[in-house]
Amino acid sequence: MTDLTDFHSYRSNPEVTKYQGFDVMTMDEAEDFINRHKDRLYGKPGEWVQYGIINNATGKLIGDCAIKLDEDDARIAVIGITISHLHQRQGFAKEVMTGVLAFLFDTKQLHRIVETMDAENTAVINLMKSVGFRLEGHFIENIFFKGKWGSEFQYAMLKREWDARK
Ligand SMILES: CC(C)(COP(=O)(O)OP(=O)(O)OC[C@H]1O[C@@H](n2cnc3c(N)ncnc32)[C@H](O)[C@@H]1OP(=O)(O)O)[C@@H](O)C(=O)NCCC(=O)NCCS
Repeated sequence: MTDLTDFHSYRSNPEVTKYQGFDVMTMDEAEDFINRHKDRLYGKPGEWVQYGIINNATGKLIGDCAIKLDEDDARIAVIGITISHLHQRQGFAKEVMTGVLAFLFDTKQLHRIVETMDAENTAVINLMKSVGFRLEGHFIENIFFKGKWGSEFQYAMLKREWDARK
């Protein structure tokens, strides 16, 4: 809760939330979000677990990322990430994603990690390519999103692909 102001500053920015499943948040909604997520721990299939991203140099919250283990097979995970507009394009997301992949593949021995994104979200597409994800699918107008039909890409990585990159 001590990070509430920093959390709200980027979660209330329409450029940051443009391609995301949530909309801009009021301060009350940001507080409610933290309260709903703060006691969740890794390991429950079907439940998003949210992690704060801290800049080691300042100790300040600069974003968040999330992991959801597949409801039917906990060897598969879906991930997501947000970096504050104030800290983008400095390599933070790539550093975080590399850490999350090491945690899921090396520590937790998961088989497969997936990320689905709006087909216009160039930033996250480049991020996922940059950490070695492979394009699996292009879904055409598969989702009614923020008032119009949107198309999505699905990217994924298998544990053996992660191991081969090391
Ligand atoms: C996607 C996001 C997390 C990237 O964070 P970031 O810290 O700026 O990314 P990085 O600086 O680590 O860059 C990673 C790679 O993506 C590329 N990239 C980042 N932002 C980009 C942009 N706006 N346009 C094109 N490429 C971009 C970088 O050049 C880098 O590529 P490289 O490793 O080949 O040099 C950030 O833009 C964001 O939070 N966006 C809003 C939230 C969102 O849409 N999240 C995804 C939901 S699915």
